[in-house]
Amino acid sequence: MDGLNPSVRPVGPGASGAGGANPALVAEIRELKRAKRAVILAHYYQTGDIQMLADHVGDSLALARAAERTDAPVILFCGVHFMAETAKILDPGRKVLLPDRAAGCSLADSAPAAKFRAFIDAHPDHFVVSYINCSAEVKAMSDIICTSSNAVRVVNSIPTDRPIIFAPDRHLGAYVQRITGREMLLWDGTCEVHVNISMDKLKLLMGRHPHAKLVAHPECPEHILLEDDHVGSTSSLLGFVKHDPGKEFIVATEAGILYNMRAEVPGKTLIPAPAFADNECACSECPYMKLNTLEKVRDALLFEEPAITLDEEVRVRAHRALRRMLELG
Ligand code: 13P
Ligand code: SF4
Repeated sequence: MDGLNPSVRPVGPGASGAGGANPALVAEIRELKRAKRAVILAHYYQTGDIQMLADHVGDSLALARAAERTDAPVILFCGVHFMAETAKILDPGRKVLLPDRAAGCSLADSAPAAKFRAFIDAHPDHFVVSYINCSAEVKAMSDIICTSSNAVRVVNSIPTDRPIIFAPDRHLGAYVQRITGREMLLWDGTCEVHVNISMDKLKLLMGRHPHAKLVAHPECPEHILLEDDHVGSTSSLLGFVKHDPGKEFIVATEAGILYNMRAEVPGKTLIPAPAFADNECACSECPYMKLNTLEKVRDALLFEEPAITLDEEVRVRAHRALRRMLELG
């Protein structure tokens, strides 16, 4: 026994697939979506049955842009709370729904507003860069927001004589430091999904698949990123796997991405990076993302709740920090 879950398999986990969706429920959602003139936005970490119903599937940046562009009166955001909140910050005139109000994020939770306020007050000369995975209150205290696809560009846009605070993900922050050479004060938050990838099991897997390329999200700890053939946001990982001539890839991020990857590159072998604990999918899944289900999608459209609400002063300040990011292009 080599310590790897015997169920590790070179395809995405069943939980992220689209198979088995109840056709009557899918038809009901499509009808409600039409009647309410709703747009459905879904992150790559959603299960396949939800991605299949979405108008736009993307990473955090693409979905923020899609939310900003839409003219639909209702946005159903199939992702987590900070993503739906971002849509509401950008689009206050629209009703923004989240299928499950409890769909939070360990990173966002790691930076409570009062503690963050005290931290930035202790460093008043610092320019504050916050990863989009944070609350509206933290966004409102920030100078600029970034996502995993533009963090390097955002940090490079800051005058070199300004010291920087980067929050809340210390692994993404450390990665950006290595790339940009900028010293940054890092908030000590992590994503529980990416720190749950086991390096020991990953090494065993790489030994079994010596030709496989390793691709990873920058929320992974440094010891994983240093082994990688490609580091990038979810959409960047998808693009790499699609265009690289390699035939076999180990994918170190949340397993929902495999639904989309398999559809894009049906001829390639995709292996989810293994989590510490043995589990059914032998992968790392986000428990918050997976709270959303087709039944909750239907109910959210039917009852128009849970709906995101925001304090207007917080929204306006958070909007300014988000706009600075979006204006960088
Ligand atoms: P991206 O969507 O920027 O790739 O980030 C992944 C993530 O952790 C979303 O919660
Ligand atoms: Fe938060 Fe990590 Fe889940 Fe993304 S994958 S929502 S960062 S806990």
